[in-house]
Amino acid sequence: MMESLPYRDFRGFIEEAKKISEWRLIEGADWDNEIGALIESTAELDSRPMLLFDRIKGYPAGFRLVSLAFANYKRTALAFGISAEKSKLEVVRLLARKMKSGKAIPPVEVKCAPLMENVMEGDAIDLFKFPAPRFHDGDGGRYIGTGNCLINADPESGFINAGTYRMQLHDRDLLGLWMSPGQHGRLICTKYWEQGKSCPVVVAFSPDPLLFTLAHTKVAWGNSELDYAGGLLGRPLEIIRGPLTGLPIPAGSEIVIEGEVPPPKIDSRAEGPFGEWPGYYSGGTLGTGEPQPVIRVKAIYHRSEPILEEEAPLWTGAMNSAKIRGPRKANGPSGGQLCSGGAQWSLCRRGRRRHRSDEYERGLVGYDDTRRSTDQHRHHRRLLEHAAGSAHAARKAGIKRPHQRPGDFLRGAAV
Ligand SMILES: Cc1cc2nc3c(=O)[nH]c(=O)nc-3n(C[C@H](O)[C@H](O)[C@H](O)COP(=O)(O)O)c2cc1C
Repeated sequence: MMESLPYRDFRGFIEEAKKISEWRLIEGADWDNEIGALIESTAELDSRPMLLFDRIKGYPAGFRLVSLAFANYKRTALAFGISAEKSKLEVVRLLARKMKSGKAIPPVEVKCAPLMENVMEGDAIDLFKFPAPRFHDGDGGRYIGTGNCLINADPESGFINAGTYRMQLHDRDLLGLWMSPGQHGRLICTKYWEQGKSCPVVVAFSPDPLLFTLAHTKVAWGNSELDYAGGLLGRPLEIIRGPLTGLPIPAGSEIVIEGEVPPPKIDSRAEGPFGEWPGYYSGGTLGTGEPQPVIRVKAIYHRSEPILEEEAPLWTGAMNSAKIRGPRKANGPSGGQLCSGGAQWSLCRRGRRRHRSDEYERGLVGYDDTRRSTDQHRHHRRLLEHAAGSAHAARKAGIKRPHQRPGDFLRGAAV
């Protein structure tokens, strides 16, 4: 394992990633469908080059978008400070070891950060300044948040949570938020809403790679992803204090907003649908029948020539593979060591038995990528759709899948 990470922040990671794996610069693409189509079709390739978009239609040069930043095991290795020369399984093994020995190191506050180079407040706030894509024809709108983390604080204990939740671009200063029931970020918001209050939030777009990885990995309630990111980094995560919310802002992010999530009975909007990585449209509102929370944006901070990270809809899961590695060895499931990033909704297999995803999340079983059959694909997909709770509603509403072939979600799944 490397002594220390060869990058300091998200931008530094992108520069290093260019050196160790394939990447492409794409100029002149349209945020409306074209970028989404390019990302998805590239994610189908075995090599999965990182895509960097510049001169996006209607946007000035320098307002860039990056995708598939971690969709290749060499870049995943880089993110964790593991040599990119290692094999896929070696990466998972070393990562499992790193996670096991990782300690919680609280963040350290620094005075300034490059993201304060540009500040938008009041009437100047305009989220359309960033080239948020509409990924698929049937999406409910443009999505600015997929490579992000939302940070909020439990009003009772003060514990700071960070979670990745998609964010729809409703207006210059208004974002739609889809947090599935039970997500820690939503539980914290609910505590504020029950008191009739808005929940203060910070959202970091393109945050430090390890913080992002932890933000979409289940960390037990009461444990802060910011502290664990420090543990994996081997040094405290640098933060600045949010001038409006007092919440920690990860200093290495490209774009950050401060704002609040009002109780949904005061303000909420139709959210989604959104083409998901398993190959169906999911909707906040389509699935639940209810409007979903919004973020009222009070300030935007961003680096000059910012890079917006967008990671939908296909994803890899070295972290979750590492999570199950220890228990897998103990329990002895056959086959699989690599799994997908959407592990909550994944079906897993141990020997001849099939297991639901909650067992997977608890690390009881591993996923067998070597023995899949068409029937299994179909079975997996049915369970995935059932678990997501919205595909049936989508079918009833006559909405087509964004990508059609059975098993697509598996193609994008292995590390
Ligand atoms: C690219 C990406 C997008 C995601 N989008 C959502 C989302 O829109 N809503 C959601 O509830 N979870 C989403 N997730 C999953 C959550 O990030 C994950 O369940 C995480 O553990 C939630 O954090 P929490 O446990 O702190 O609430 C997404 C994950 C990834 C990798």
